[in-house]
Amino acid sequence: MTKIGIIGTGMLGEAVGLHLLDVGYEVNVYNRTKEKTKKLEQKGAKIIESPKHVAENSDLVIIVVKDAEAVENIIFGDLGIILGKHDGMCIVDMSTINPNSTKEISKRVSDEGVDYMEIPVMGGPNVAINGKLVIMASGKKEIFKKHEKIFDSIAEKVFYLGDTGTAHSIKLAMNLQIAMLALSLSEGLTLTKKAGIEPELFLKILNSTYFKTGMSEGKAYKMINNEVEPTFTLANLKKDLDTINDAADSINAELPMAKIARKVYSDAADAGFGDIDYTGIISYIMKLSDK
Ligand SMILES: NC(=O)c1ccc[n+]([C@@H]2O[C@H](COP(=O)([O-])OP(=O)(O)OC[C@H]3O[C@@H](n4cnc5c(N)ncnc54)[C@H](OP(=O)(O)O)[C@@H]3O)[C@@H](O)[C@H]2O)c1
Repeated sequence: MTKIGIIGTGMLGEAVGLHLLDVGYEVNVYNRTKEKTKKLEQKGAKIIESPKHVAENSDLVIIVVKDAEAVENIIFGDLGIILGKHDGMCIVDMSTINPNSTKEISKRVSDEGVDYMEIPVMGGPNVAINGKLVIMASGKKEIFKKHEKIFDSIAEKVFYLGDTGTAHSIKLAMNLQIAMLALSLSEGLTLTKKAGIEPELFLKILNSTYFKTGMSEGKAYKMINNEVEPTFTLANLKKDLDTINDAADSINAELPMAKIARKVYSDAADAGFGDIDYTGIISYIMKLSDK
């Protein structure tokens, strides 16, 4: 059976690793902060001292870290993956990064004779734990085919999207939807609450129309009382809005709302809301009205 390495055991990487252990894979793990590997170790993962050593012990190495700088460092830095390369090894990057960075990283990795794919995902740790993510995969078709079985155990839907950079371009468009939906719900809930109307009534009517979403039917009810457990931090969504704006600038795509969303999430992170779930943007929006 393919030996899998996971580098980055934040909220998403940990859940993916726990699921892969559940379905019987041998999992080798590295995280910069070692305490975050405890749950995986208890479940049978082998905790390893460096990305290089994970690579030496794994056929497929999954990277799940914050941003492109971290991905590059994990692959090419001191004791990086590339130093542990061996025949048949493949690196797949699940982190959300700029498609331009993916293209550069993919080329550098391929120049080293190592297989590479980008596999950004939709869905958080709460679905990753049950293998129910949605994967968008780009890279060479033969590499995809070789590891398709593992992608199928991580995700309930896997989209193969061809050329390098495509998956990340679509992932950024997806996260723009997430950012906007959380904002429009937060502002709708604030508007009704300030008007003295129960926000649940707004949701009840919204959810009986064409304009309902998974978020308005689910997390929105928890947003009203700030009860959402963090699955994807507001700071990471702010990071993605930076990436979305950078990627848009690089192809002359004018996205006025993406610029405004970046400012709102950025101000919220600066005001101390960065570590909570991204839907906690409602607390920041409601606080603005308290002034
Ligand atoms: N959570 C979700 O729902 C979700 C869904 C889809 C995609 N994503 C993407 O998946 C990635 C991970 O998300 P997450 O929610 O797991 O984030 P997280 O809980 O904040 O974890 C971030 C991970 O990145 C590592 N990291 C950050 N900077 C690093 C660096 N310079 N060098 C090495 N490691 C570094 C962290 O290591 P330390 O523990 O040492 O800080 C940690 O393992 C992000 O790109 C995110 O946008 C997340």
